[in-house]
Amino acid sequence: MKVLETYEGTIQRELYSADAIAGAIERLACEIAADFRGQPLLLLGVLKGALYVVTDLARAIACVENGPSEVVVDYLCVSSYGNETRSSGEVRLLKDTTETVTGRNVVLVEDIVDNGLTLEYLNALMAERKPATLRSCVLFDKPYHRRVDVPLGYVGLQCPDEFVVGYGLDYQEVFRNLPYLAQLQPWVFQSE
Ligand code: IMP
Repeated sequence: MKVLETYEGTIQRELYSADAIAGAIERLACEIAADFRGQPLLLLGVLKGALYVVTDLARAIACVENGPSEVVVDYLCVSSYGNETRSSGEVRLLKDTTETVTGRNVVLVEDIVDNGLTLEYLNALMAERKPATLRSCVLFDKPYHRRVDVPLGYVGLQCPDEFVVGYGLDYQEVFRNLPYLAQLQPWVFQSE
């Protein structure tokens, strides 16, 4: 797949192709649609990383027969990384949901779970608001440095113990629009 030339020089290897990601999203959509058959569903995308996951997932759910009665998409925005490849461990809420969470079937949609602190923080924040049900959906699971035992409702793909970019995931805000998941060349991080 052709991508920006400046990106090509920085990519060490492709980890999951755009097709593999699309397949995982379809599978997640089937699982979620079956669990919420005939019921209303609120998908909460965690920005910025989940920007593609939540939009692709919402459309994929619409294509599953006998799925939820309706799907509402909303977003919240958190920051835990700053500009480094290791999490600071401190999660900050930059933008809250605009939808009310109380009494609704909520699925939190995350791009990747690494140490688990972001999801733990968001689970606690949403649970306080008393949703009818609360589950999480993560596209990539990176379990090697987990610091908290956070329940993962729906999991797309396993991620190697690497800092990865693409399909919403960034390094210093760049590479989010790469259509596949990739590992960067080590020299990219040398300025850290
Ligand atoms: P956690 O709190 O360590 O589980 O990390 C959650 C957030 O960190 C994710 O939503 C991502 O935005 C970011 N993150 C974790 N691992 C990576 C990675 O390999 N590349 C880019 N962002 C990552």
